[in-house]
Amino acid sequence: MKIYRIAVIPGDGIGKEVVPAAMEVLDKAALLDGSFQFEWTTFPWGCEYYLETGKMMPDDGIDLLKGYDQIFLGAVGMPDLVPDHISLWGLLIKIRREMKQSINVRPAKLLQGLPSPLRNPNGFDFVVVRENSEGEYSESGGRIHSGQDEVAIQNAIFTRKGTERAMRYAFEMAKDRRQHVTSATKSNGLTYSMPFWDEVFAEVGKYYGNIGQTTNHIDALAAFLVMKPQVFDVIVASNLFGDILTDLGGAIMGSIGIAPAANLNIEREYPSMFEPVHGSAPDIAGKGIANPLGQIWTGKMMLDFLGYPDVGTKVLNAIEETLAQGVKTGDLGGTANLREVTEAVLNNLQ
Ligand code: NAD
Ligand code: IPM
Ligand code: MN
Repeated sequence: MKIYRIAVIPGDGIGKEVVPAAMEVLDKAALLDGSFQFEWTTFPWGCEYYLETGKMMPDDGIDLLKGYDQIFLGAVGMPDLVPDHISLWGLLIKIRREMKQSINVRPAKLLQGLPSPLRNPNGFDFVVVRENSEGEYSESGGRIHSGQDEVAIQNAIFTRKGTERAMRYAFEMAKDRRQHVTSATKSNGLTYSMPFWDEVFAEVGKYYGNIGQTTNHIDALAAFLVMKPQVFDVIVASNLFGDILTDLGGAIMGSIGIAPAANLNIEREYPSMFEPVHGSAPDIAGKGIANPLGQIWTGKMMLDFLGYPDVGTKVLNAIEETLAQGVKTGDLGGTANLREVTEAVLNNLQ
């Protein structure tokens, strides 16, 4: 029996509700397969931990996490009590960076049983490959002066290594899909970073002559995701553009509460981190009404990454079956609570 040791960080808000629900589903999926098991170790890190200790995680937190096979995280953020740039950079982004999780994979597709808010969703099915280590999210810049004279500088850093890596990953993924990559750019407004991004896309694209290649400005691309989402297969985007597009991807599926994500250490040198697209949703936290499907689908991505795609497919089928039965949380227009949705997924997982 193969045992996977998973570090669990429920985090804040609804993270504490959806993570245990998804763990139940993953345990059942493993049991059905019979060849592996999860051994979960939960870490109480997050904003409450910060309010008690002054830190989002202990100093040896990263070293501790390195001892696990993968990380399963809910969400981080209590913006009324801890400024987001402190909480997120002290935990979520710190882990992404220090574990070299350089690629963030975020699928979006029309699910069976779940009507899209779009009038013509046309069976869309795309994956955003988000550069996850640099770009607009670079700790480079500063603030000087105060008041009327204040200046804030935030540098965006694009390296050839990081940019090429994201693009190669996107092209390799497209080989196993519908053979098309769209690059999200903004080289009409940003005069250094995005022309560079476009050049690298063209260079890397030369090695993938059989894969269709399109470049769209991010503003038009956002509109296309609403008007004709079915034309996209793999979309490669910088850190910020990918962030924005993937909340939109969730929304056109029906809710950001179902969108999954995987922060991958593609070299498999350190653990990867599986964490849904949505945040801690302080507006609904503690009420037991959060949608657990994003966290559960994120668990499916962990199964895929561990090498159990058939088990992962069973989990996604159980999600779709649950939706088709009309068992939905409020964000999807339903009346079920988190527990009822979780029970339905467990029952549908065969
Ligand atoms: P959010 O994703 O938490 O919430 C946006 C809206 O979507 C809210 O109305 C919320 O109720 C709803 N929603 C989100 N997930 C849902 C679910 N599973 N079921 C039902 N409804 C759901 O985004 P926000 O409000 O911008 O951010 C709240 C906090 O979370 C902030 O501190 C932010 O920085 C943080 N955040 C963390 C992560 C992360 O840890 N991965 C991601 C995004 C935001
Ligand atoms: C996400 C989140 C994070 C990001 C925030 C909370 C820093 O929005 O994972 O999508 O922008 O990467
Ligand atoms: Mn986001």
